[in-house]
Amino acid sequence: MALRQIVKFGEDILRKKSRPVTNFDERLWTLLDDMAETMKKAEGAGLAAVQVGVLRRVVVIDVRDEHGLIELVNPEIVSTEGTQCGGEGCLSAPNVWEEVERPNVVTVKAQDRNGNEFTITGSALLARAFCHEIDHLDGILFTDHVKAELPKR
Ligand code: NI
Repeated sequence: MALRQIVKFGEDILRKKSRPVTNFDERLWTLLDDMAETMKKAEGAGLAAVQVGVLRRVVVIDVRDEHGLIELVNPEIVSTEGTQCGGEGCLSAPNVWEEVERPNVVTVKAQDRNGNEFTITGSALLARAFCHEIDHLDGILFTDHVKAELPKR
């Protein structure tokens, strides 16, 4: 395993759409292992492959709950429920913390590192992480969701 450099806000790659994974091979496993290590070292709750410069639909999440490390390959949100409002940050924007509205419960369909499909449901922080990381795969940043400030008088 190796630490990878985390891309920061302002770099063009973060606005690009990631491509689906088609090969479930050693290259993918190394990417997943490196992403998990990089996320842990940075003390983050989630990391998308684009954040280490790889435009593939791969995400790792660890919100320090009973799920432990979650690896999502080609994830898609299949259903959501309710809303939550809370503070959110991103390893690509170390000094930014914003209030973002997200669904409170989110079910995701994805593949594991061997290509097997599964679904997983998360609430609260995990639901937030699913939304945040899957957004990254489509070039969407959490700051895009911050509600515009009221116009100044
Ligand atoms: Ni992020």
